[in-house]
Amino acid sequence: MKMHLDEKIWLIISFGMIMGFMAFTGYQTFVLGMGPPSNMETIDPQKVDVTAPFDNPGVYEIGENEYEVVMTLEIFSFNPGEIEVPAGSTVHFTMTSKDVTHGFQVAGTNLNAMVMPGHIQKISQKFDEPGEYLVLCNEYCGAGHQHMATTITVK
Ligand code: CUA
Repeated sequence: MKMHLDEKIWLIISFGMIMGFMAFTGYQTFVLGMGPPSNMETIDPQKVDVTAPFDNPGVYEIGENEYEVVMTLEIFSFNPGEIEVPAGSTVHFTMTSKDVTHGFQVAGTNLNAMVMPGHIQKISQKFDEPGEYLVLCNEYCGAGHQHMATTITVK
């Protein structure tokens, strides 16, 4: 069976493109270190309640207009459930899951993170506008997934 010259050319081009993309992705990942920024810190998901800082979930003032929210997620709640910060605050969320993978999405902001058991997720956001911000779990986590929500109050 004889292969048409055009066919050979296109095979070579498409194979070359695949190799090119793989080389490019590999260069970004291993040379430039452009992997996903999260999941760098791990935690034993069985011992979340006795591992600092998650043994004391809550809202902590860590500087002028700067807060840290230490949060645990579990089926089907966020702890702390009540979060209140003054307008203009920068809030650093430190989160982990005690059971399955959950999501942390805050409507009206760019906050959107996956919170997995065994991993510590960190994400920050400045809240300029006062209001009630809806926090949703956007990863299906079981029968009560649609009820997993809370609010962040910015005053
Ligand atoms: Cu937690 Cu869906």
